[in-house]
Amino acid sequence: MAVKVKKITARWIFNSLGVILVILISLEFALGFSIKNYFYESVERVMTSQAETVSGLLSKYSMEENGDYESYFRGIVTTFEKRNIMELMVISEKGEVVLTSSGFIPAEDSITPDWNEALLSSKKTATFTGTAGGENIMSVTVVPDGSTDTFASFRLVTSLKDVDTQITFIILGAAFIGIAIIFFVMVSGSYFINSIVIPVGEIGEAAKKIAEGDFNSRIEKKTDDEIGDLCETINYMADELGATERMKNDFISSVSHELRTPLTAIKGWAEMLEDSSKDNTIDNQTLSRGMGVIIGETERLSVMVEELLDFSRLQSGRMVLQPMKLDIIAELSEAVLTFEQRAIREKKDLFYEESDDIIPVMGDKNRLRQVFVNIIDNALKYSDEGGSVTITALRTEKGFVDISVKDTGIGIPADQLEKVKTKFFKGNATRRGSGIGLAVADEIIRMHGGEITLDSIEGKGTTVTIRLPIDK
Ligand SMILES: Nc1ncnc2c1ncn2[C@@H]1O[C@H](COP(=O)(O)OP(=O)(O)O)[C@@H](O)[C@H]1O
Ligand SMILES: [Mg+2]
Repeated sequence: MAVKVKKITARWIFNSLGVILVILISLEFALGFSIKNYFYESVERVMTSQAETVSGLLSKYSMEENGDYESYFRGIVTTFEKRNIMELMVISEKGEVVLTSSGFIPAEDSITPDWNEALLSSKKTATFTGTAGGENIMSVTVVPDGSTDTFASFRLVTSLKDVDTQITFIILGAAFIGIAIIFFVMVSGSYFINSIVIPVGEIGEAAKKIAEGDFNSRIEKKTDDEIGDLCETINYMADELGATERMKNDFISSVSHELRTPLTAIKGWAEMLEDSSKDNTIDNQTLSRGMGVIIGETERLSVMVEELLDFSRLQSGRMVLQPMKLDIIAELSEAVLTFEQRAIREKKDLFYEESDDIIPVMGDKNRLRQVFVNIIDNALKYSDEGGSVTITALRTEKGFVDISVKDTGIGIPADQLEKVKTKFFKGNATRRGSGIGLAVADEIIRMHGGEITLDSIEGKGTTVTIRLPIDK
């Protein structure tokens, strides 16, 4: 069972959790990327617009005024309003920082390549985003109209530290939401998985118990779904197995009993005959009576053993018919004939009027005879002294022949009528028999394409009808 649990859980992790995870991670990356772009672009917009303002002032001055350009430039830098968010610096043609809005001259490694690119570029401007002086920065350098050698260009610099912090914060927030989603999916998923895996495990346990022979083991149906249906099916299976098991056990004990009874009679008579033959006290009449019992009981035993063998052949599918065209009336007559003596002995009337009709049937001679013998035997066995058994054979309209065996015996209770054809079923414990005769007969007739029907009134008698297809 443990293997199964792992498999289903693994499949779920792979199929659903895996997919959700991949989607969330991609979303996270896409989000991070666009957030960063958006923030950096807004910073750049602010920077360029500021650069345009400064360069506009300088350009206007250089064209309209005739004063000291460098002083004017210096004035702009020292009074720079946005000094709290960015720094404005003046760079000479050689790349030296001449002046800054903060008043501090920055380290050389924090001067990024845009200062030079701006000088070289035809647009007279260049931007840079990246690390400088150990910090993530963005800078814009512009070469304004009227620039001099010392006041060659101005550069606006801002640190991206705050922006980066904000971006990280947003990404972490999104990651947290993602983890929360995964967590909820896992909780609801494992609830769902458990609702399958745990009952499946329980069903497995119960099925194992049943397999080991505990047919009383039952599974409690907890849900009204496929799992619940499965529980019901398994319980039903256990019911049926239990019933079969009980029938089989009854059968074994009744067969053992049936085998022991004739053996006891045979042994008793044989011992008696042996004793009396020693002291020569035996008269002919007793001898022949004893021999009669021994032969009769031996006959009964061999019939029963045959019956058992047939039954086992039927069960394993080894019973094969050897069909040939035969006259069913002739076969029936021969079967009836074997009961004549017994009927007289048991003081029962056996009525049979042989039909002149010849009714051809494709069938197995011995098997059909065996069926007739079984049914007539039942009719005699289940009726008492003075009763009668009437046997008839008639063509029906639809190409069948109906052979019926009617007795005036003890009958079959209505609630047993359905079951008498099932194997091992013995309705009446007062008469000898294994309870498989009718089951075998029914199967043989079915293999011939016919059927056996029983009509019975308890206490009045029974009519068994064997219907077989007539050969054309
Ligand atoms: N002619 C009949 N009259 C009354 N009961 C019958 C008759 N034939 C069959 N039955 C009932 O059907 C049961 C099954 O018959 P069968 O399979 O031949 O078993 P068995 O003859 O060994 O008892 C019998 O035990 C009996 O209860
Ligand atoms: Mg029988």
